[in-house]
Amino acid sequence: MRRLLLILSLISLPAWAQDDSLYRAWGGKAGIQAVMVDFAARLPQDARIGRRFQGLNAEHLANQLTEQLCELAGGPCQYQGPDMRAAHQGMEISKPEFNALVEVLQQAMAARGIPFAAQNRMLAKLAPMHRDIIDVP
Ligand code: HEM
Repeated sequence: MRRLLLILSLISLPAWAQDDSLYRAWGGKAGIQAVMVDFAARLPQDARIGRRFQGLNAEHLANQLTEQLCELAGGPCQYQGPDMRAAHQGMEISKPEFNALVEVLQQAMAARGIPFAAQNRMLAKLAPMHRDIIDVP
């Protein structure tokens, strides 16, 4: 039994068999990129968290987010930026700020016509990241 479990744990799905349904529901990489460009443009304008994004390179942020969400959605991408703990270290990001960012993302997804179910599937993949991003209550 133990050997069977070991063998099963060693078998991973080949790339072509991976579930890319979320990637397709978002319109592939171009669809994800369009939402992320919109999102990165909205962030500096938000009354609650905009100051965090003032003066940042929005294009870089949109590109990094595109790679990250493309990979999360099962698309053929590999996010190569810093992990979420390192990327947000020392920023003292609070829970209300995290929730505000999710709301801005929801605005961008709605504006770009991402179907509601596909919005929620992506949010479910992002939600656990709060552990690495939020460091004050
Ligand atoms: C699920 C939620 C989040 C995700 C997936 C996410 C993802 C990312 C990614 C991929 C980067 C680029 C890292 C790099 O290339 O250096 C980044 C940077 C950044 N994030 Fe987040 N983030 C999230 C939440 C937040 C929140 C809640 C805030 C603050 C309110 C925030 C503020 C920033 C800032 C200011 C940067 C730019 C850092 C810099 O360029 O110096 N993020 N984030």
